Amino acid sequence: PSDLGTDLARVLLTQEQLESRLDEMAQKIDEDYAGKDLLLVGVLKGAVMVMADLSRRLHHPVHMDWMAVSSYGSGTKSSGVVRILKDLDADLTGRHVLIVEDIIDSGLTLSWLVSNLRSRGPASVEIATMLRKPDAAKVDVDVRYTGYDIPNEFVVGYGLDFAEKYRNLPFVGTLAPHVYSS
Ligand code: PRP
Ligand code: MN
Ligand code: MG
Repeated sequence: PSDLGTDLARVLLTQEQLESRLDEMAQKIDEDYAGKDLLLVGVLKGAVMVMADLSRRLHHPVHMDWMAVSSYGSGTKSSGVVRILKDLDADLTGRHVLIVEDIIDSGLTLSWLVSNLRSRGPASVEIATMLRKPDAAKVDVDVRYTGYDIPNEFVVGYGLDFAEKYRNLPFVGTLAPHVYSS
């Protein structure tokens, strides 16, 4: 499509790269949770793609649940103060929980979410994320499964949006500066 041609600067991760890494992550998760009940918690909306693609690669039977959270604060910057828009349906008591995310940017969303879920009495809480921006981290988040570390650039696709657009791209691309610098 023509608007993608001018809105995207370059492809950062191809669909093939995402898929081969997902294969490896799923294999590791299968090994680590062998013999355990596993609850995948996807963080709406960005994690929809990785949740669907990762869960389909598991041979392990899992339960899946969803949360929607929103950061208070201005514009695109995460403030670390998080509000629950949709809570889990599942009771976490005694459960092994794996949070599934598309990206860890500042780390503020996940750092809040991990402590929130830990307070609910689970057996364990770990994180799987497709992308992580080490240079953007404001807090350290202990991540068990990471797809790719990426540079601190504005990325879209594979669930990630800019103003709710581009989530459906099957690859991860960087946004051309003219799109976000009005
Ligand atoms: C994005 C992304 C992560 C979070 C990471 O979600 O999907 O959930 O920000 O940012 P942080 O590490 O700086 O906290 P967003 O709040 O944009 O909602 P969305 O998933 O609905 O796009
Ligand atoms: Mn998100
Ligand atoms: Mg977003």
